[in-house]
Amino acid sequence: IVTFLIKCLFSRRLIAMFLLLHFIVLMDVKDCALTEGSTITPLCPKGYFPCGNLSQCLPRAFHCDGVEDCGNGADEENCGDTSGWATIFGTVHGNANNVALTQECFLDQYPQRCVCKGTELECVNAGLKSVPVVSSNVTLLSLKKNNIHSLSDKVFIKYTELKKIFLQRNCITYISRKAFFGLHNLQILYLNHNCITTLRPGVFKDLHQLTWLILDDNPISRISQRLFTGLNSLFFLSMVNNHLQVLPKQMCAQMPQLNWMDLEGNGIKFLTNSTFLSCSSLTVLFLPRNQIGFVPEKTFSSLKNLGELDLSSNMISELPPHIFKDLKCLQKLNLSSNPLLYLHKSQFGSLKQLQSLDLERIEIPNINTRMFQPMKNLSYIYFKNFRYCSYAPHVRICMPLTDGISSFEDLLANNILRVFVWVIAFITCFGNLFVIGMRSFIKAENTTHATSIKILCCADCLMGVYLFFIGLCDLKYRGQYQKYALLWMESLQCRLLGFLAMLSTEVSVLLLTYLTLEKFLAVVFPFSNIRPGKWQTLAVLICIWIVGFLIAVTPLWKEDYFGNFYGKNGVCFPLYYDQTEDIGSKGYSLGIFLGVNLLAFLIIVFSYTVMFCSIQKTALQTSDERSHMGREVAVANRFFFIVFSEAICWIPVFVIKILSLSRVEIPDTITSWVVIFFLPVNSALNPILYTLTTSFFKDKLKQLLHKHRRKSIFKTKKKSVSTSIMWADDSSALKPGALSKINLEDNIVKPIS
Ligand SMILES: *[C@@H]1O[C@H](CO)[C@@H](O)[C@H](O)[C@H]1NC(C)=O
Ligand SMILES: *[C@@H]1O[C@H](CO)[C@@H](O)[C@H](O)[C@H]1NC(C)=O
Ligand SMILES: *[C@@H]1O[C@H](CO)[C@@H](O)[C@H](O)[C@H]1NC(C)=O
Ligand SMILES: *[C@@H]1O[C@H](CO)[C@@H](O)[C@H](O)[C@H]1NC(C)=O
Ligand SMILES: *[C@@H]1O[C@H](CO)[C@@H](O)[C@H](O)[C@H]1NC(C)=O
Repeated sequence: IVTFLIKCLFSRRLIAMFLLLHFIVLMDVKDCALTEGSTITPLCPKGYFPCGNLSQCLPRAFHCDGVEDCGNGADEENCGDTSGWATIFGTVHGNANNVALTQECFLDQYPQRCVCKGTELECVNAGLKSVPVVSSNVTLLSLKKNNIHSLSDKVFIKYTELKKIFLQRNCITYISRKAFFGLHNLQILYLNHNCITTLRPGVFKDLHQLTWLILDDNPISRISQRLFTGLNSLFFLSMVNNHLQVLPKQMCAQMPQLNWMDLEGNGIKFLTNSTFLSCSSLTVLFLPRNQIGFVPEKTFSSLKNLGELDLSSNMISELPPHIFKDLKCLQKLNLSSNPLLYLHKSQFGSLKQLQSLDLERIEIPNINTRMFQPMKNLSYIYFKNFRYCSYAPHVRICMPLTDGISSFEDLLANNILRVFVWVIAFITCFGNLFVIGMRSFIKAENTTHATSIKILCCADCLMGVYLFFIGLCDLKYRGQYQKYALLWMESLQCRLLGFLAMLSTEVSVLLLTYLTLEKFLAVVFPFSNIRPGKWQTLAVLICIWIVGFLIAVTPLWKEDYFGNFYGKNGVCFPLYYDQTEDIGSKGYSLGIFLGVNLLAFLIIVFSYTVMFCSIQKTALQTSDERSHMGREVAVANRFFFIVFSEAICWIPVFVIKILSLSRVEIPDTITSWVVIFFLPVNSALNPILYTLTTSFFKDKLKQLLHKHRRKSIFKTKKKSVSTSIMWADDSSALKPGALSKINLEDNIVKPIS
């Protein structure tokens, strides 16, 4: 008993089982008083909870965060999910040790290797091959870990005083139908961890007082209704990890007192509407890790006293709409890890007493607030997805606490992300601003082209601004993000940031496509005169901004159709959607990223490939081969980098989109990496690719430097040989002939004369 108690300390369920014995008489578990419509709690806005009897409301995330926020401690109360059996059978603090164990032995006869205390006998690991002969007034017989392989006829018939028998770990294979005959006072029978395959009907016939029957970890594959004949007082039945596939027609027909049934880890394939028909006393029903595929409408309708139901890890793909209708006392329901496709609108409508609902790993495509509203007493809800928490705003604790991008404490969970959001924001912002400044300062030959580039830089700059704000929000919420996560994602700021990022990417993509096409026409048809004029270019640029603006603003405009399009994650960028999103936003995001952007990407790659081939052909035709070689390599390099940066930026996005189309689950963490590292790559590299590394820009810069240097040199009147050589070297670059004949960067295509 002592070792048993020590072991118990390590298992909550076991403690509860033990206490249950002592509480059976004390607790009237059947009395499940419905106190409907109790409106003592003040009404709080969405996502807030009331501070006990105060009229103050706090954001949900303040609940159980380790800091007393209410002032009366109400926010730090009831922090663990102890719904279900733990509350049904009282707290674990009951006094379980009130059985005073006497040390004196009252038994005259027992094997030497056994330990006797009072009338209780323990023969644990004593190498016994059969049930030993002991004094007839033994009350407890523990034969754990022996080698008893069979129980023959009437083997306990002498021991009519026996109350408890422990026969675990004996590899019992055979139990005679008459083995337990005469045990009229037996209360507890442990047969777990044996090799029992079948139990004959009637084997428990005489056990009228039995309350506790444990048959865990046996290979029992069939049980019949008549097996339980005689178990009128049975309170607790556990058959965890057996091989049951079919349950008897009426499980509790012979066990009217059954309160707790644990059938975890069997192979049960289906339940019928009569399986639990006479189980009206049942308070706890565990059916996890089975293969239940379908649960018919009236399965649980007679379980009026059920307090906890666990159907997790089964194969249930559909639940009838009124399946939980009669479970008025249910406090805890676990449906996690089922391939459920759909939850009906009023699925949980009658679960007024429910305190804990586990829907982990379940997609809820039609999730809405009304689904969870009727469960007024719900304190714990477990979802697959952080986003779902916004649909159950009145529930005190909603899991998971954050999505993959953000951790419990921080908007950006990863330190690398946190640093790089600033680095990339800085590069993007200042690179683009610098180019805008430079372009305005240095007059280009082709002003319309320069304007296009400046506009492109403006669009790219917005991406930098977006990243700056994400970085700022990360700083603002550092260490306490979980408190504000939902509020942040629902906020106008988040939506505006999402809008900004979307505007930036779309305008940038459209502009790049336009510039590429322009260049393409100039290179492939160098002698045609289809170059757009100043006003035409301006019109196109304005159109591109309008289109970009419309693309970005549309989701903000019709909230009921798109939902919260931008606020799906902490970084407010609508990249990845799982199956559960509104059709509107899913389709829209798909259309933008796999439609518009993929098309643009393909156009760019195609154009550059054709241009490259065309230039190579032209180069081969010209005589001056050697001078062309270097330039050609440069051109190839540039093309490669332009296409490469496009690819880095967009291929991850396309891959994510295609994967999500084929229903592959993508961790949320990936989104943040793509949004912070890959998406801005283009914006950060565009100024370098389209301005800073162009020969035009380099030449202009050199020219400027020379002017400056020449001035300073003339001033100080110092002329060294080395500088004059350098001059000579550099000034050659200024000769008209040295300018690239095909100046791709600025669209100046000069036919080779
Ligand atoms: C709230 O309840 C506490 C006891 O739980 C009591 O001491 C306090 O006076 C109550 N406050 C109000 C405003 O009712
Ligand atoms: C039965 O138990 C009592 C003590 O409760 C003891 O005195 C008595 O000897 C026992 N009888 C037999 C037959 O062992
Ligand atoms: C159980 O389902 C069967 C059909 O499968 C139906 O005929 C019967 O009436 C149902 N029983 C109850 C109690 O609803
Ligand atoms: C629900 O069941 C799953 C798996 O059986 C388990 O991991 C989880 O803790 C259960 N949820 C609750 C709230 O007890
Ligand atoms: C909610 O649960 C508490 C116990 O946690 C219980 O006292 C109360 O009556 C329940 N309220 C309703 C409306 O069921």
